[in-house]
Amino acid sequence: MDFSALANSRFSVRSFSEKPIKEEELNAVLEAGRCAPTACNYQPQKIYVLKSEKAIAVIRAITRCAFNAPVVLLVCGDTAVSWKNPFSKHDSMDADCSIVATQMMLKAAELGLGTTWVGYFDPEKVREAFSLPEGVEPLCLLPIGYPASDAVPSEMHGSRKPLSETVTVL
Ligand SMILES: Cc1cc2nc3c(=O)[nH]c(=O)nc-3n(C[C@H](O)[C@H](O)[C@H](O)COP(=O)(O)O)c2cc1C
Repeated sequence: MDFSALANSRFSVRSFSEKPIKEEELNAVLEAGRCAPTACNYQPQKIYVLKSEKAIAVIRAITRCAFNAPVVLLVCGDTAVSWKNPFSKHDSMDADCSIVATQMMLKAAELGLGTTWVGYFDPEKVREAFSLPEGVEPLCLLPIGYPASDAVPSEMHGSRKPLSETVTVL
């Protein structure tokens, strides 16, 4: 599949089959995140693969948006490592980890796996539940697995603003 076809066909999957993810496919997804660009190449991402029965039960108790995925990737960034813009003082952790997560999401779609980017969780509960080290901030969850046979794109998937509303040519 070429990139445009992949980007257009990917949609948020919120219903998963029980089939376990093949180890090599999960690794390929993680590798797609590993090769992502990050500011100054500092690579502040810390990815937690939640797959044990216990870890899955814990994340499902924290957010309903873990859905019934067999695995959930908890994407975090280490603010002690990430680049800080010296002009704006902006921390690039969110941007770095968003690129990592996006690459993993697209690789998953290429492999026929489904994901949804999930921001609906209390980061403090996640920090406590998984004993995140100081400075490591959760950015998003990616529930991941093979889509259930009834998984379909939501109405929001088809709705995108025209370029005339989001692009300004100067
Ligand atoms: C930053 C961000 C946070 C999101 N948080 C959630 C979430 O907590 N729960 C959820 O079901 N979907 C979440 N989504 C998925 C969006 O709702 C979805 O990507 C959007 O509606 C477009 O649909 P599509 O992914 O099928 O194209 C999030 C997406 C982004 C980028």
